[in-house]
Amino acid sequence: MKLLVTGGCGFLGSHVCEYFHKLGWQVIAYDNMTKFETSRIEFGDQDKIRNYNKDFLKELGICIVTADICDKECLISWAKGCNVIINCAAQPTMTLSETNPRKDFETNVTGVVNLLETAHKYNIPLALCSSIHVYGTGINDNVVEANDHYEHIPILINENYPILTGEITPLHASKRCAEIYGRMYSETYGIKVATFRLTGIYGERQFGSEDHGWVSLLAIKTMLGLPIQLIGNGKQVRDILYVTEAVSAFDMWIKAGCPSGIYNIGGGADNIISVLQCIKQLGYLFNKEQVITKGGARRGDLLYFACDTQKAFDAFGWKASITPEIGLTGLVRWLKECKAIFNA
Ligand SMILES: NC(=O)c1ccc[n+]([C@@H]2O[C@H](COP(=O)([O-])OP(=O)(O)OC[C@H]3O[C@@H](n4cnc5c(N)ncnc54)[C@H](O)[C@@H]3O)[C@@H](O)[C@H]2O)c1
Repeated sequence: MKLLVTGGCGFLGSHVCEYFHKLGWQVIAYDNMTKFETSRIEFGDQDKIRNYNKDFLKELGICIVTADICDKECLISWAKGCNVIINCAAQPTMTLSETNPRKDFETNVTGVVNLLETAHKYNIPLALCSSIHVYGTGINDNVVEANDHYEHIPILINENYPILTGEITPLHASKRCAEIYGRMYSETYGIKVATFRLTGIYGERQFGSEDHGWVSLLAIKTMLGLPIQLIGNGKQVRDILYVTEAVSAFDMWIKAGCPSGIYNIGGGADNIISVLQCIKQLGYLFNKEQVITKGGARRGDLLYFACDTQKAFDAFGWKASITPEIGLTGLVRWLKECKAIFNA
């Protein structure tokens, strides 16, 4: 079996590559090394951080191709003979999408259309990564503020919930646009295309930035004793998902025959945590006092999201099971092991 993982040297992509390589698949990690997520990290050895996941995959003997998903001919040449394509390549942040909406569009829409054309050419099933942000900030109008978190009724939100409500950013537009193209290629050309609407993912090999990988960013700042600046009041809630569980969603989707559709992929009811609760848990795990400062709210920020994942369960039997207590312990262990990169 042969797998093309675009964005393979990113956080999620590198875990997808590692997992399928260990299952015995021939894996190609295709990445242009833009590494949007590391471009604003203000601590540590920048080069080592940028190349950490690439070097990790190289050690495993995985084939690495430094190329862009906007280069359709290159994509087509590397996809030949593949059984599945998983796209983790993206411009993943709201703030950078506002700074450069064209780059956001080219990566998240043009790149995805290239992948769809490639998948169509060879009739290869394709999995795309979207985001729970496509539901929009209208959800914020229905939250109730509690002591250290927001609440929402219903607790879990499914795929029938209205989308793009409230104010949208370029990232909302590009991610939703890619979803629509995915559906169109599936319905028009009969190829199998799944879009995973992912919640906040966390775990080893994630180098968090301001609005992408917030769990890791909080953990790194706690470890280094750096001040933690809250965005808003810190009561924002997510059903965080440990990275290996996101990988298992791809695995189970493939085993079920790659059913087309849009699926919420998140931690669900057992993994709901607010930023403040997460900071507290990390302080405990590192056994460190944290300095917390207040910052302004961010445009487009969702105050609450927790996924109803019943649709993914019905289609391919997937449900999250790793709790933040276990997942955060894994993240903290890894950070302590490679602390030197962050201290540099
Ligand atoms: N990490 C999360 O919490 C989270 C949450 C919701 C959705 N997602 C989505 O999951 C996907 C993977 O996220 P991630 O956290 O691994 O992101 P990441 O930034 O760690 O990885 C993305 C990778 O894509 C590569 N890339 C960017 N533009 C490219 C291009 N034009 N051609 C080839 N490669 C390119 C980057 O170099 C990077 O290695 C993204 O679509 C993201 O929007 C992630």
